[in-house]
Amino acid sequence: MAEQLIIFDTTLRDGEQSPGASMTKEEKLRIARQLERMRVDVIEAGFAASSDGDFQAVRAIASEVKDSIICSLARANERDISRAAEALQPASRFRIHTFLATSPLHMEKKLRMSPDQVYEQARRAVREARRFTDDVEFSPEDASRSDMDFLCRVLEGVIAEGATTINVPDTVGYAMPEGYAALIRELRERIPNSDRAVFSVHCHDDLGLAVANSLAAVKSGGARQIECTINGLGERAGNTALEEVVMAVKTRRDHFDLDVRVDTSQIVAASQLVSEITGFAVQPNKAVVGANAFAHASGIHQDGVLKARDTYEIMRAEDVGWSANRIVLGKLSGRTAFKQRLRELGVMMNSDAELNAAFARFKALADREAIVSDVALVALARQGEGVNSGSMHP
Ligand code: KIV
Ligand code: ZN
Repeated sequence: MAEQLIIFDTTLRDGEQSPGASMTKEEKLRIARQLERMRVDVIEAGFAASSDGDFQAVRAIASEVKDSIICSLARANERDISRAAEALQPASRFRIHTFLATSPLHMEKKLRMSPDQVYEQARRAVREARRFTDDVEFSPEDASRSDMDFLCRVLEGVIAEGATTINVPDTVGYAMPEGYAALIRELRERIPNSDRAVFSVHCHDDLGLAVANSLAAVKSGGARQIECTINGLGERAGNTALEEVVMAVKTRRDHFDLDVRVDTSQIVAASQLVSEITGFAVQPNKAVVGANAFAHASGIHQDGVLKARDTYEIMRAEDVGWSANRIVLGKLSGRTAFKQRLRELGVMMNSDAELNAAFARFKALADREAIVSDVALVALARQGEGVNSGSMHP
């Protein structure tokens, strides 16, 4: 049997750090339920000590979501760690994720701490977190710009204190795939007790390399956890996109030889829910979840796909939740079926007038194409002004 790749979703924590993406407790709960339905291994539900609202959201998720491990971020101090533990208490399984910066720049300018102080505080934080749970993750923030010898010393120390996951963040999106993979490999080879922890990757997309860096570190560095977000939401340019890494590992199993627990048929629903709640539209040409991701416009491509789908498709739209055949919509389909399918796809309309306008666009398209795919349906519905993030028009 192949080894498992752990999928750690941080949409509700790092994703929420995206400017303009803050969410209410109820909105976070809706997303957490969908992540559980999708069988994500770990859900980072928030940063319990950061605000009362976040504390309540972590607690609500820990109370309700039972099939995934629920995690809270905590700075490397006693108060943050005990707040995280308190919020997580109702969970069936929980993790405390504590972090402290290790790069010279962050230690000197931000923390104003010496390397020895950082080393001691990191160890203390993990020791403290282990009082509440044996599932403790440590992140040396800005790891990709840290000194290798110092990083090895800190990570050996926190593993000795009982950290079970070592997450190596490329906090500023600075790494290149080969270098980042080599970093993870070298850490695993040099740290004497590295076999007692799972190595994890956490990449930001400032140079558009978050997915590439994460996958390189899995393939060549031996990382076995990826931290990621739905639609790549996250601080600045965002994080590694969950849908992209999951589909890469599943589609190219020949290359990765790893198992992923995620139910991929829930991916599109998760993407649309996050987009609806945050108001961040998914670009049409976004991999996997964009409205055009499975659309074939050129005649040559359409001809090829009709003869043999794999001429131009490496994944099946249905496998990620673009279900094409539950209701097959064509020119004979009525307004009710149209409305029903949009509802299933999570597309919201404001009024009858807007629904009618979308239906007219659908009829025009159906006149030209025998079957209108889910992808085309979402695209034509979103051309209207009435698509919103409120409730579906009845
Ligand atoms: O990007 C980062 O370094 C983080 C850590 C808190 C894991 O989000
Ligand atoms: Zn981050």
